[in-house]
Amino acid sequence: MVISSYRQLTRLPTPEKARFKLGDLFKEVARMATSDWLDKGLALITQVEPSELDVFADRQMIEQVLINLLQNSEHALLDAKDGLVSLSARLNQRGHVTIEVSDNGPGIPEEIISRIFVPFYTTRREGSGVGLALSRQVMIAHRGMITFANNEKGGARFTLVF
Ligand SMILES: Nc1ncnc2c1ncn2[C@@H]1O[C@H](COP(=O)(O)OP(=O)(O)OP(=O)(O)O)[C@@H](O)[C@H]1O
Ligand SMILES: [Mg+2]
Repeated sequence: MVISSYRQLTRLPTPEKARFKLGDLFKEVARMATSDWLDKGLALITQVEPSELDVFADRQMIEQVLINLLQNSEHALLDAKDGLVSLSARLNQRGHVTIEVSDNGPGIPEEIISRIFVPFYTTRREGSGVGLALSRQVMIAHRGMITFANNEKGGARFTLVF
């Protein structure tokens, strides 16, 4: 597991891009990463605006990025009462496709924010610290970016810009 993740990190293949609808992608990742959330008391809301919005990207890679982000939120919400994660897509002011994953968990302390994208940085006992580092590589390979901010009301918010 760690070894294959390390391989992925050191030599990410060139993205195989195709055009696909973000609504379809969201359904797929929701099915793969959130099917047991109801039992865990967690809720997911998704929004795509405009509803037919699509993107030219490596679908599998972006799927992997979103699954990791949803799993990170899930971990952050394990002790939460009304854990809520929002997965949304829109065009930003410059016309770039933007995907946001936002949760109402504890957020990330200022002093560790600068480290979360560093390979193998983790605060979880069972974490390998590969998820965000890989996500960053994937977005760079797409000539895009991933950014983090804490929500004003608390909770973490990751933004992918293509
Ligand atoms: N939504 C979030 N809320 C709070 N902390 C977060 C959130 N997402 C990431 N983090 C912090 O960033 C660290 C790095 O995340 P990353 O996904 O890279 O690794 P990981 O989840 O610990 O392990 P892996 O993804 O390899 O299983 C986490 O250990 C956690 O401390
Ligand atoms: Mg992770």
